[in-house]
Amino acid sequence: MQIVSSIATMQRLAGRWRQERRRLGFVPTMGYLHEGHLSLVKRARQAAGSRGKVVVSIYVNPTQFAPSEDLSRYPRDLKRDLSLLRGAGADAVFTPDDQTMYPDKAGAAFSTYVVEEQLSQVMEGAARPTHFRGVTTVVAKLFHIVQPDVAVFGQKDFQQAAVLARMVRDLNFPVRLIVAPTRRERDGLAMSSRNTFLDAEQRAQAVILFHALRAAAAAVKKKPQPSARLKADLKKFITAAPLARLDYIAFFDPATLQPVTPVRRGTQMALAVFFGKTRLIDNATL
Ligand code: PAJ
Repeated sequence: MQIVSSIATMQRLAGRWRQERRRLGFVPTMGYLHEGHLSLVKRARQAAGSRGKVVVSIYVNPTQFAPSEDLSRYPRDLKRDLSLLRGAGADAVFTPDDQTMYPDKAGAAFSTYVVEEQLSQVMEGAARPTHFRGVTTVVAKLFHIVQPDVAVFGQKDFQQAAVLARMVRDLNFPVRLIVAPTRRERDGLAMSSRNTFLDAEQRAQAVILFHALRAAAAAVKKKPQPSARLKADLKKFITAAPLARLDYIAFFDPATLQPVTPVRRGTQMALAVFFGKTRLIDNATL
């Protein structure tokens, strides 16, 4: 497994693989890897085929964090990540530093961004106004650096995958996106690098996100439910976990991300819940 930190080296390596007509699968991450990330690496391996190559990037992208957010305390453990990726069969890991991705040479600050203006306005975009601009910008950069044929993203970040699919379509990136299912802990909590911030009590209660998704699915199984009422019921349901502070619940069309009512089978639900400073998200098709 090759470990690459310079853009020129990564572009050269990717270029060589393209010349050898190898299919390239790519999994962008911010590191502190868990089984969810590794399932994406396996999916990329499958998509790239036996002759293909799989590149994983590890980069905690500062432009997708607001000043008030957890950039500096975002968990990092590169040594462990590399050993997990060796086990998962990655061919190369791209781990640039901030100066490489966002150079500020002699005060000439980075000043070009990619902005998706529709799907990025709701839910996570409403709660974190500059977040998706950072995501689309860094993923556009990574696509130019790695030049993948296929890139794999997690359904865990449903809106992120939708925004990136729109960017790829609108800006004609020659890459196919695959969205892979959410991996969960035994009790149903979606795996996330941020779960490590939870203390034991918060961790025990964090399963409320998953239970809320299940309760909503059960409620609409019988008949469609007005969105406002279902939201109010779920809000009450979530306060059963005393450490949980609800940020939002959304019911929406999975293609447009626009709110829908009544909520029925097939409607997409997403929610964000704070435990202390830690903000957890989850979603499901009801
Ligand atoms: P990160 O949070 O590290 O996630 C990297 C990828 O792993 C994303 O596509 C995410 O949806 C997926 N993922 C996270 N938890 C998962 C789980 N439990 N099951 C399956 N997949 C899961 O998302 C980012 O990084 C960044 O925004 C990034 C796209 C790398 C841009 O900086």
